[in-house]
Amino acid sequence: MPDSTIQELGELPPDAAIAADHRNPRRRNREAQQEDEPEVGVLVHPEPRHELGGLILHRGVRQQILDGLRAIQIRDQLEEVWSISRLQPQQGRCILNFYGPPGTGKTRAAQGVAHRLGQPLYQVDYSSVISKYLGDTAKHIKLAFERATHHGAVLFLDEADSLLSKRVSLDESCATSINQNRNTLMQELDRFEGVVVMTTNLFGNYDDALLRRVQRHIEFRLPDASMRRELLALHLPNPERVKANLRSLAEQSRGLSGGDILNICLNAIHAGSRDPDPAKWLVTEELLLREVRRAKAAKEKHSGRRAGGRRIGFRA
Ligand SMILES: Nc1ncnc2c1ncn2[C@@H]1O[C@H](COP(=O)(O)OP(=O)(O)OP(=O)(O)O)[C@@H](O)[C@H]1O
Ligand SMILES: [Mg+2]
Repeated sequence: MPDSTIQELGELPPDAAIAADHRNPRRRNREAQQEDEPEVGVLVHPEPRHELGGLILHRGVRQQILDGLRAIQIRDQLEEVWSISRLQPQQGRCILNFYGPPGTGKTRAAQGVAHRLGQPLYQVDYSSVISKYLGDTAKHIKLAFERATHHGAVLFLDEADSLLSKRVSLDESCATSINQNRNTLMQELDRFEGVVVMTTNLFGNYDDALLRRVQRHIEFRLPDASMRRELLALHLPNPERVKANLRSLAEQSRGLSGGDILNICLNAIHAGSRDPDPAKWLVTEELLLREVRRAKAAKEKHSGRRAGGRRIGFRA
């Protein structure tokens, strides 16, 4: 069952970000000197279309995200009743990990978190962070956290396994520097006073030290049939120009993700918009079905190749 009703969303104060920022003296002190610092990421300003409510998610997933953010909303009450600062001195801190197969909406949900908090998203760029010069990577990791704080942003580690993987094949000379980078990252995560979202489809690769720092691990599974129908409808925004039985297409799209459905709809829209007269543009069931078959064939070929003939499936 999808869980896309807006009614069940808890309310966060619109000024949560500003309040967290205001309470953070470290940020104010560093502000002047930080204007000149280089960026090691991209600042993304979420738009209304990124709203969490627009995602088609399995039951409970949206609520888990909101429960994580709620800790920031009710910080004062948590302090009053539980003296929460003794357990977690960092105010407004929340580390979320979204994991699951490709195309299930993890990156979109991170934008949704930022939209919900009224904050921008600081998406760390690993190619700028990872340096071949000894010591520079650790410096860049620190800088990423400082930049996120400076911008009052949610820190976003997309495909975090590439930065946080325990499976690093290395020789002795690299080991010290990798450990130094890992320690720096853990220290920065411990100190950070904001929201961190990390995503991965290789959850098993995460470092153990990281696992315990994450407050919530939230699984994004492949959509079921009724969610696939909603995803088809979502990505075909003009129903008057769609002549297809979405329910039966959804049945035939078993194993496909939201990202696959986006591509199916885009391809069908382009194929159905070839006539010079836009009044004749139409997405038919035939066009959609052809794209569904193509997507499934490509996926099967790919998973067959990865498993050396063995099929690897993700749970829907
Ligand atoms: N649950 C969903 N609800 C609505 N749209 C979705 C959902 N999942 C995927 N999509 C569509 O697919 C696009 C790609 O999704 P997204 O990039 O968030 O997937 P992802 O889980 O981050 O994939 P990857 O692991 O490959 O990075 C979205 O922009 C959206 O159009
Ligand atoms: Mg992603």
